[in-house]
Amino acid sequence: MGADMNYMSGFGNEFATEAVPGTLPVGQNAPQRVAHGLYAEQLSGTAFTAPRAENRRSWLYRIRPAAMHGTFEPFEQPRLHDDFAVGPVSPDQLRWSPAPLPDMPVDFVEGLYTMAGNGSAEAQTGIGIRVYAANASMRGRYFYSADGEQLIVPQQGRLRIATEFGVLDVEPQEIAVIPRGVRFSVELPDGASRGYVCENFGAAMRLPDLGPIGSNGLANPRDFLSPVAAYEDLEGEFELIAKFQGHLWRAGIGHSPLDVVAWHGNYAPYKYDLRRFNAIGSISFDHPDPSIFLVLTSPSDTPGVGNMDFVIFPPRWLVAQHTFRPPWFHRNVASEFMGLVHGAYDAKADGFAPGGCSLHNCMTGHGPDAATFEKASNADLSKPDVIADTMAFMFESRAVLRPSRQAIEAGHRQRDYQACWAGLQRHFSPPA
Ligand SMILES: [Fe+2]
Repeated sequence: MGADMNYMSGFGNEFATEAVPGTLPVGQNAPQRVAHGLYAEQLSGTAFTAPRAENRRSWLYRIRPAAMHGTFEPFEQPRLHDDFAVGPVSPDQLRWSPAPLPDMPVDFVEGLYTMAGNGSAEAQTGIGIRVYAANASMRGRYFYSADGEQLIVPQQGRLRIATEFGVLDVEPQEIAVIPRGVRFSVELPDGASRGYVCENFGAAMRLPDLGPIGSNGLANPRDFLSPVAAYEDLEGEFELIAKFQGHLWRAGIGHSPLDVVAWHGNYAPYKYDLRRFNAIGSISFDHPDPSIFLVLTSPSDTPGVGNMDFVIFPPRWLVAQHTFRPPWFHRNVASEFMGLVHGAYDAKADGFAPGGCSLHNCMTGHGPDAATFEKASNADLSKPDVIADTMAFMFESRAVLRPSRQAIEAGHRQRDYQACWAGLQRHFSPPA
């Protein structure tokens, strides 16, 4: 794969890009008059005074400033909310079949459906986990969240995400991240589409430190791609949907807000192909902890403890000797929401389909189902296993993920999920 002229490579780099030559000012950010009659506007994703290594901001040179739109009024989309904190949370293992695809026209914003979450935008910690099922492109509608950055994981159908910063074309097994505040619109070139979204209310995601792994491996910075500048010069009757403090708002806007002709800075949307993840694992015995599959992490205020970790289980070889090769049984202080983008997941024989999801909360036991346990316990370890056809992922959080009421009551929740472990046999036979 060669360089793509539509993207710039690197994670958190200081980019500079212009759709019209000669737009970016030289040696300053806000000249008295911007070239070509544009407005200069700064978009800050961190506090002005954040340490330099954390500081994220970009300068946008646009046809009209972002301040120009009508008055916001509540926008009804009752399936998308941050109401995670209602009532007690059961410690049950939970699993869902893929969300049903709509039979009426539904766009990306209308198709978002809150599954679980914790914290809040107000507290600046926690995450909101959604799935989406949609079949229509957003027409004359633009969206942003002031509450958090949005990690989008398509499972079925490509997304063409037109943003203020340029266009991200994303297909299943790729991800996109839209920073907090960035306005965008989603087209569905394949029609019926489904996937997952994690909205991160905490510190922006970053690449993890690699420690003894060294300077390469896992997700490499050069594989993160931000779009080159591209703009819409459109006037008409459009709408701007804002997610603000857990609720949706709608304002009329007389022009496309995707009117940024040039930008520079280190606060920008990006995409990443999960198939480029350099998986690292055991070549002797036993598994490393699943943190070895960490793609991106949102740190909390406690060192090493993630507000949100995005982890994938990509294709890989299993070669460990005298070892139970699938993911082992475990309980975890963190809480784990899993999804499956492609293929099959090696800890479950069935029931966990692409587009489905599961939730294993703090200290809730889980692991391979009975069929997988029996098979792996009797496998021939003289040969390696290759898991070629898979792409599972996890949104993991330090705090309990509270399922939404609609997720608990959903018709596609598998109310018999616990039965997958019921067939585990007693094998204990103490010496006489
Ligand atoms: Fe787990």
